[in-house]
Amino acid sequence: MTRSTWLLLGLLTASQFCDAYRILVVFPLPGKSHSILGFGVVNHLLKAGHDVTFVTPILEKSPHPKLHQIDISKNFDYLPKNTFDLKSILNKESTVNDPNQIISSINLMLRATYRNENVQKLLNDVDQKFDLVIVEWLYCELGAGIAEIVQAPLIWVSSLEPHWMVMRLIDEGLNPAYHGDALRENIPPFNFWQRTEQLWIQLKTLYYMHMYHDAQQSAMYDEVIAPLIRKRGRVPATFQEVKYNASLVLGNSHVSLGMATRLPQSYKAVGGYHINEEVKPLPEDLQKIMDNAKKGVVYFSMGSNLNSKDMPESLKKSLLDMFGELEQTVFWKFEEDFPKVPKNVHILEWAPQASILAHPNCVLFITHGGLLSTTETIHYGVPIIGIPVFADQFVNVNRAVGKGIAKKVDFSFTMAEDLRENIVEMTSNPKYREKVKELSFIYHDRPVRPGAELVHWVEHVIQTKGAPHLRSPAINVPWYQKMYLDLAVVVVILVILSISALKRVYCLIFPKNVMGDKKYK
Ligand SMILES: *[C@@H]1O[C@H](CO)[C@@H](O)[C@H](O)[C@H]1NC(C)=O
Repeated sequence: MTRSTWLLLGLLTASQFCDAYRILVVFPLPGKSHSILGFGVVNHLLKAGHDVTFVTPILEKSPHPKLHQIDISKNFDYLPKNTFDLKSILNKESTVNDPNQIISSINLMLRATYRNENVQKLLNDVDQKFDLVIVEWLYCELGAGIAEIVQAPLIWVSSLEPHWMVMRLIDEGLNPAYHGDALRENIPPFNFWQRTEQLWIQLKTLYYMHMYHDAQQSAMYDEVIAPLIRKRGRVPATFQEVKYNASLVLGNSHVSLGMATRLPQSYKAVGGYHINEEVKPLPEDLQKIMDNAKKGVVYFSMGSNLNSKDMPESLKKSLLDMFGELEQTVFWKFEEDFPKVPKNVHILEWAPQASILAHPNCVLFITHGGLLSTTETIHYGVPIIGIPVFADQFVNVNRAVGKGIAKKVDFSFTMAEDLRENIVEMTSNPKYREKVKELSFIYHDRPVRPGAELVHWVEHVIQTKGAPHLRSPAINVPWYQKMYLDLAVVVVILVILSISALKRVYCLIFPKNVMGDKKYK
């Protein structure tokens, strides 16, 4: 054989072992944390050699050569007003805790995503072929339509701890007696009223879905998705068929972060996949400050959605004064500079959060309690004070408090004093730090890294054409059959029939007149 034949043979075998797939990833929600999770998925797939088309509202400036970005930054226009404004939350004007409203606005956002001219261009191009579609799930299933259009298996990515609504899509809902809802702050074990409230939330949401959102989504499906399927020469399946046809849910969850939830085979917990395994070095000045912080560093950040800029002046000043009295060094991530800052306080306009948390002198993290931040605290083993502001932050913080690694402070105009007391308690009592180190061990002690696991299951779904073997049988069994209501009906009918049969036999043995006679005696 000539050299070139060997080379060709070598290339052929190599390509057998590392098939590059074409994967369409869709993260429609315009928010920094959703984008971080989206790029987390995309970067793992690119590193594994795949070709990725990413529909995203936040774009990377110099993308990887195998990454094709589809710009849906117009989705920012569909955010409900005031969502991320601290002042309106303080004044209780924001209503992002109502599932009914969340579902409605995300439905609209999904429809806008399909109508977006860049997405239209992509989906109208019948030559675009994909091996798999990955869509972020958040209270809305319209994203499933994309998989139906390009005729590829579907994987949902859920940013939450296993949520009863997403579990319904691949298996069945979670029992409200011992599973919380992302928008309610209670964590199990529930007392009688909490348990009743959890049941009520599920029933109420299901009622609204049944009476309203299902029809709304079906209409949107007919409007924006069905025409694209017809264009490809197929008869569209119904929205209900498409909605329950996902191969897998990749969950941004892990037992160390949440609890030991019973999960179907088609749910894979890959929580923490978005965190880089290697910690980037700190900028020189920060490194120096942290190395020299004998009493440790307290890091304060309200996350990427909420700007501390919107804080009332009086609150800013009381926080700054309070931080100035602490013996620790304080890093405050803040978008504007103060004229006068105490010596131990450093205002950081931009903060390399992971590198700060990874430094051994970081003793405490004060956070709004977004799921990414609570994940990072366990990844790096830093205890927290949570100041939840909206959505799932309340339950995330309560969960951390329940695990013994956190304290909660209510967000208010006068929270500085409360915050100070909790900082003193948490930096002087070692039990929080010990506990978070324990959880951090559990978090890291996995057979494979979450990113590698994610890539494994993505490739598995493609190679097995939608992984039908992982599908839960529960998905095809109607609820009344699961509760054996049909059997109950049969039993009731049998009982009624036997009673009337017995009556008849009784009457035959003791004829009426005899009985009647007896009565009148
Ligand atoms: C369901 O998904 C499988 C592959 O994952 C696909 O072959 C099938 O056509 C889909 N069915 C419907 C009704 O969408």
